[in-house]
Amino acid sequence: SAAEKGGYDYFMLKEIAEQPKAVADTLLGRIDAEGSLTLDEVRIPASVLREADKVVIVACGTAFHAGLIAKYAIEHWTRMPCEVELASEFRYRDPILDRRTLVIAISQSGETMDTLMALRHAREQGAKVLAICNTNGSTIPRESDAVLYTHAGPEVAVASTKAFLTQLVACYLVALYLGQRRGTKWGDEIRAVIRDLSRISCEVERVLETMEPVRALARSLKDKRTVLFLGRHVGYPVALEGALKLKELAYMHAEGFAAGELKHGPIALIEEDLPVVVVVPSPRGRSVLHDKIVSNIQEIRARGARTIVIAEEGDDAVVPYADHLIRIPATPTLLQPLVATVPLQVFACELATARGNEVDQPRNLAKSVTVE
Ligand code: G6P
Repeated sequence: SAAEKGGYDYFMLKEIAEQPKAVADTLLGRIDAEGSLTLDEVRIPASVLREADKVVIVACGTAFHAGLIAKYAIEHWTRMPCEVELASEFRYRDPILDRRTLVIAISQSGETMDTLMALRHAREQGAKVLAICNTNGSTIPRESDAVLYTHAGPEVAVASTKAFLTQLVACYLVALYLGQRRGTKWGDEIRAVIRDLSRISCEVERVLETMEPVRALARSLKDKRTVLFLGRHVGYPVALEGALKLKELAYMHAEGFAAGELKHGPIALIEEDLPVVVVVPSPRGRSVLHDKIVSNIQEIRARGARTIVIAEEGDDAVVPYADHLIRIPATPTLLQPLVATVPLQVFACELATARGNEVDQPRNLAKSVTVE
């Protein structure tokens, strides 16, 4: 009913709007008065976390994209190797797992059969499994050794939005916690990241306030057949997520590419007026990546692409090459997906509406897939 949707036309719009609160709620109670991390709820013995030699993340769909981003944070903050794999592929390739492997299963519903089968397989091999889940008491956390709940609240729309942002927050917390336990990250550094994370909720709010031009742009593209998405570093999984949202909701052909791969194939797809969304890394952090992606934007524009550029406020280098510029607040590089994904959600939702599609219940999809 309209009341359940809180005055929004669709659950998806309501859930997009709830993201600042969802992100804040997922941090709540996990940071103590001094601003340090308290994840004692993760009941995995300190010795297990110290002795683990590898992290393996398994998930499906949007949760898999959260896992791809988590890899950057885990490897950077813990110096442990981290693999990310689609849950549906995982057990069929005889993965190398033992008592020193920490498996992280990410699932909004906690009922996805592919993810459940992957975690069962991991536990049979002696690995410890930590679930990151949004649904209390669901099967995946019940069958895991430990759980960190995301506090996004119930997500009704099939296409995941607020659950994704909170999965990212939970992954960052786990990465810092592992770093803390293993001694690769110390109090002050952890406090600094936590401070940045605490600010993100307001930054997401600011992004939401500036979405009208993104909606207008989406409507103007309603008769296009294809949209491409490019990103680098953590912007690459963001590009994949932007493309997935467009497939799910607008039923359009959409693909996400690592911008560095462009020259190895995808650039052949560029033609006159093809919309290409580019997620630009911060010019402050890894400025090399920033400069490389700016040349990618030049290259595709020279071949006629219509460039839709998502870039940090104050990043002037992109201005001459952006047909459409979507600004996001400056954040530390690793945290940028929390703000960069939001315009892509709004874009896909508006395109779906413009094309007359059912936003909350896209054709052929289910909110949670409980068959393999
Ligand atoms: C389905 C949904 C996706 C979701 C995926 C994983 O395919 O349509 O939106 O990302 O399942 O779901 P989970 O509940 O495990 O996060």
